[in-house]
Amino acid sequence: MKALEGVKILDFTHVQSGPTCTQLLAWFGADCIKVERPGVGDATRKQLVDVEGADSLYFTMLNHNKRSITLNTKEETGKQVLERLVKECDVLVENFAPGALDRMGFTWERIQELNPRMIMASVKGFGPGPYEDCKVYENVAQCTGGSASTTGFLDGPPTVTGAQIGDSGTGLHLALGIVTALYQREKSGRGQKVLAPMQDSVLNLCRVKLRDQQRLEKGPLEEYSQFGKGIPFGEATPRAGNDSGGGQPGWIVKCKGWETDPNAYVYFITQAAVWKNVCDVIGKPEWKEDPEYATPPARLNKVAAIFDTVEEWTKTKTKLEVMDICNPLNIPCGPILSMKELAEEPSLRASGTIVEVDHPERGPYLSVGCPVKLSDSEVEVERSPLLGEHTDEILGDVLGYSADEIAQIKQSGAV
Ligand code: COA
Repeated sequence: MKALEGVKILDFTHVQSGPTCTQLLAWFGADCIKVERPGVGDATRKQLVDVEGADSLYFTMLNHNKRSITLNTKEETGKQVLERLVKECDVLVENFAPGALDRMGFTWERIQELNPRMIMASVKGFGPGPYEDCKVYENVAQCTGGSASTTGFLDGPPTVTGAQIGDSGTGLHLALGIVTALYQREKSGRGQKVLAPMQDSVLNLCRVKLRDQQRLEKGPLEEYSQFGKGIPFGEATPRAGNDSGGGQPGWIVKCKGWETDPNAYVYFITQAAVWKNVCDVIGKPEWKEDPEYATPPARLNKVAAIFDTVEEWTKTKTKLEVMDICNPLNIPCGPILSMKELAEEPSLRASGTIVEVDHPERGPYLSVGCPVKLSDSEVEVERSPLLGEHTDEILGDVLGYSADEIAQIKQSGAV
């Protein structure tokens, strides 16, 4: 048995944010029915195509374990089928532009009329307010949610991150909202609306930067290397380069091979509790008792110089050697792993976080599997559906249409 077995999801999502959410629910065992426009489908099917004629990796990697039905929900017969789906399913998940569902005739009031137990979950770019009608993509959310203004180097422009915190990050927030609403429904018997705005989700992930904004109003942020360099702070939380977001100084330093390998670097943390071990490792045992270095406050104005010394040592080792030496001494450090290295990492393959999936149109490809492990609900990653692959099956088995009725629906052009 899977954790969400028996939960039916009407998956009206597209691109990345919504599909991330429903893919996770499908991995946990929900029956995820993806509704797509006939002949077109989710736009990502044909974006960044790498195998001519096949669904793109963009689509396949975000839509595992789902079933696909095509349905023109702006046409009368299509609307009737969608009504049946609303009555049959537990959760409707959508991330259309604001108002699209209303324009289709499926307002929250109408959905409640059809199915009072329905949980309607939406990703939107913004919550209620001046920007609520805007269309939003990943980087717009990163910029409006506080991430870009606090990412990058002090002397450079705002920077977006590679982690898709706007899309996938919001999808994760939405998934939690849905499961919580399902739990509440157990007691209340009622559905509810769940909204995860992308701006809010990014801001939630940037919580520590709002922490720093308020601390900044009381004085300079001493743990930022900017402080040690004597560069004055402005009014807002600045970009902190590779400074750690917590109270333990950290930085990315070069390792052996950095001249030719763009990822021969390691994140090194001079955690106060293991300072003496750090001194031994980097060949500065005299710093252990030197009052200029022995305590965190004494080190604050020379953090950058300390990392220069750390780097002199790390440049003599590969990033994995640094990790092997530091870990037994409880010195936290993170080698910069490339996507190539991650794809080949045996432990991630063994845990199912990197999976190889076969696909009829494109052959085998790699994907990120389910990153959350439940001990009593195992995940088997199944390939994404072809466009409309399950239309007949869903009309017949899920919605109970007869063969004649299915033929009529097809004749109407609704699927
Ligand atoms: N049958 C008929 N029409 C369908 C349909 C179907 N099965 N599925 C979608 N449509 C229609 C919609 O109703 C909408 O029509 P309308 O504009 O006449 O109301 C139209 O297709 C386009 O939908 P829309 O969501 O506006 O797509 P878009 O490509 O113009 O915009 C986004 C894409 C992502 C910018 C937008 O959907 C958005 O802002 N979503 C919310 C935030 C979000 O999730 N962003 C991140 C995406 S990773």
